[in-house]
Amino acid sequence: MIRDSKTLSIWQDVIPFVNLNESPNENDDFDAIIIGAGITGLTTALSLQERGKKCLILEASNIGYGTTSATTAHLNTVLDTPYNAVIKGFGEDNAQLLAQGTKQAIALIKRNIDHYKINCDFEYKDGFLYAENEEQVKDLDDIYDGLQKVGLDVSPVDTIPVPVPFIKAIQFSGQAQFHPVNYLLALTEAFTEKGGIIKEHALVSKVEDKNGTQEVHTPDAVYKAASVVYATHVPPGISILSFKCAPYRTYLLGVTLNDEHQYPEALAYDCEEPYHYFRTVYLDDKKILLVGGNDHKTGHNENTEHIFTELEAYIRKHYDVRTIDYKWSSQYYESADGLPYIGKYPGGNEHLYVATGYGGNGMIFGTLAGHIIADLIITGESAYADLFAPSRLKLMASFKNMVTENADVAKHFIADRLSVEALEEFADLGKEEGRVVKYQEKQIAIYKDEYGVLKALSPVCPHAGCIVSWNSAEKSWDCPCHGARYDTDGQLLNGPSVKPLKKIDIS
Ligand code: FES
Repeated sequence: MIRDSKTLSIWQDVIPFVNLNESPNENDDFDAIIIGAGITGLTTALSLQERGKKCLILEASNIGYGTTSATTAHLNTVLDTPYNAVIKGFGEDNAQLLAQGTKQAIALIKRNIDHYKINCDFEYKDGFLYAENEEQVKDLDDIYDGLQKVGLDVSPVDTIPVPVPFIKAIQFSGQAQFHPVNYLLALTEAFTEKGGIIKEHALVSKVEDKNGTQEVHTPDAVYKAASVVYATHVPPGISILSFKCAPYRTYLLGVTLNDEHQYPEALAYDCEEPYHYFRTVYLDDKKILLVGGNDHKTGHNENTEHIFTELEAYIRKHYDVRTIDYKWSSQYYESADGLPYIGKYPGGNEHLYVATGYGGNGMIFGTLAGHIIADLIITGESAYADLFAPSRLKLMASFKNMVTENADVAKHFIADRLSVEALEEFADLGKEEGRVVKYQEKQIAIYKDEYGVLKALSPVCPHAGCIVSWNSAEKSWDCPCHGARYDTDGQLLNGPSVKPLKKIDIS
């Protein structure tokens, strides 16, 4: 399975074949076209198809290309945004509705697993959250209060399932874990068996409203539908969501331990900022410890290889590590107020829907989004419509910083013909290194491949003109503004851009 990065996640080792059967016909009228074949897209499409709707999924690359194949697949009712913060920002009733939604999402996943007999290693687990210093204890106490107020089952504990010294900890039940790619592929199979159609390698360049019918443009064809769902993180183009979502990268290591007893039988989290997260994966008879963390805003740290080194040092400090078996990074989007945007596309026509801004809780919100959007399309209503409305206008303090950071945009660049000699003069690069350099007042993104061949690109992101940064671990050019990513040839890896980086001719 190909994904949007150089590194491969633990889930991509064994991939069963999925038959996508028929191709879409341009003359067909679909009830809904869903753009993106991750957990949001597949859950939405299956939910609609189950309820008698005729759906087409258009995927820019392949199924499992994006974040769903790179998550650690913690299924949480305890979210990145603490309930005490949600109570403060949205009120206690809404915080309780949110908690109900998380439980509903886990129940929906379990329902699909039972109904379609999916083998994806689903297990209910307890969760643990622990504080390592007095400042974190204060945060933990507030989180505990919030959890009690929304009615989740939580209690203080004296032990935690990870060998990290702590001062105070809480335990909560009703969490779960699974194999996200096996689940996704089973949803794919269920969807196509019910008559749904998936077209891979169909990048959507635009959606046009023609008298209430949505015309969805791909390189090969234009498809028609009554409704269109963007299940693509931030949708393409510039919209209010471009400014209300911040892209982040997170880092994961899969580790074999010498001590069998050190593998946690639960999900665990610390209170650091960014926090570390832990779970155990069972691969056949072998256990692997997954540890994630060290998150940062996309495009704001070039030496991402070093981040893996830091994460490894952290794990070795606490665990007796035998081997590091997997390492990968992944992208997610933070919303401006801590809750996702799920529902009608803000400022778009009434037939467009969107789901994004899940933070680190993509499996939960992706699943919930699928059912919310299916309800909105079929009945026009959802109990969650107001809480997650993409048109709401709340901002949290941290988000305001992001807007400021992203203000240095739009430095357009006209590509000239440059000589290799000129490039080599000012770009002292090692093999498989990239850098944005300034040459004669122009910025150029240069990469030297494994054979020593230089590739030059315009670093101006075609989405809105920000300058991309080098990502050394994934060998990609990442945009710091809205998270678009490109490979070393400038080809698109992640939206919201729909165009490649412009090549600079090297004579
Ligand atoms: Fe928006 Fe690059 S992703 S400017």
